[in-house]
Amino acid sequence: MNANLSAVPAFEHLSHIPLYAPGKPIQEVQRELGLTRIVKLASNENPWGPTEAVKARVASVVSGSEFEGLALYPVSDGYYLRKRIAERRGVSLDRVILGNGSSEILELVAKAAFLDGGSAVIPKHSFAIYGIATQTAGGRVIESRASATELDADDILRSVVKDTRLVYLGHPNNPTGLRLDRAAIERLVRNLREDIVLVVDQAYAEYEDPADYPDTASYLDERPNLLVLHTFSKIHALAAMRIGYGLGSKELMDFLERVRSPFNTNHLAQVAAEVAVQDLAFEAFCRQKNTEARAAFSLEAANHRCQVSGTCGNFVLMETAFPAADLFNALLHRSVIVRPMQGYGLPNHIRVTFGKPEEMRTFWNAAGPLLDGGC
Ligand SMILES: Cc1ncc(COP(=O)(O)O)c(C=O)c1O
Repeated sequence: MNANLSAVPAFEHLSHIPLYAPGKPIQEVQRELGLTRIVKLASNENPWGPTEAVKARVASVVSGSEFEGLALYPVSDGYYLRKRIAERRGVSLDRVILGNGSSEILELVAKAAFLDGGSAVIPKHSFAIYGIATQTAGGRVIESRASATELDADDILRSVVKDTRLVYLGHPNNPTGLRLDRAAIERLVRNLREDIVLVVDQAYAEYEDPADYPDTASYLDERPNLLVLHTFSKIHALAAMRIGYGLGSKELMDFLERVRSPFNTNHLAQVAAEVAVQDLAFEAFCRQKNTEARAAFSLEAANHRCQVSGTCGNFVLMETAFPAADLFNALLHRSVIVRPMQGYGLPNHIRVTFGKPEEMRTFWNAAGPLLDGGC
């Protein structure tokens, strides 16, 4: 039989959607290049965790020492974790949904919104999954104006058309490390048409100073079509567990529940996150380390006359004189993995995650001589 899968109309549509390009795993680079010690600064993971308390809780499940173990299905809707999150965020339990990473919730909301087509407005240079989730669910992407140095709330509002169902906003945004001020967030929340779901992805919000970060969760009572996302992959240091959560109105959650698979988050992830979400001291520690890493990076970048943009998140976007792919490869051969940004419309930018001080020394030892001619 001569099967031609691209002849299936839906597959033909899928073949035009860009594939997500993940950061290279350490083992992969070791295997390909025969390197031993590798510093990975490519996927905005947190080098400081997880905590001993989280590890002990996971170990207790793996050893089956409680009334739980790997042979049993997890709690389907993650009741106990949702309860902890609800307490932490000051909302009722029925306003919390869990996902297999916040990426899954980005997909769930697209699946719900684009059942009969429609469009999503997404600022230029946003996290790739917003566009992929939209298109794989049958929606169309409308790109609003943004640059490596500026996010524009008013252009998001201007870009909305009749069939727009969703607006995605990374806040702070990855990869640009930008966020809006309180007035702009307020304009967006209050002026966006009521039949459009505003998805605010706050994956990096915990790295912001809580005293001046405009948390969109404070508008949840005002705007039923608001979905605020958080992840355990970043400051909570649980990226391998794949768990994140969304906050929204009870009505919105009822719709999302209809497209969520039962048991979508696993038991190890749920218990690890239960411990992590209560540990405010660890969050404060990581926030402080991140602030120190950013200050040190800015100094070094200035020494090399390199331009960095954004002030948010656990990463930095850096413009260089080289094509990003060339710099990425040169650093790879010096045992450092960063993320080249050409796929994000930034052909000369790399994104560097803040590692521990010794990892950042390795980065500058490798990158310094390459950048010495100026960025
Ligand atoms: C802005 C943003 N949102 C969401 C995610 C995905 O997080 P998760 O690991 O929870 O799927 C990332 C991961 O890098 C991100 O940068």
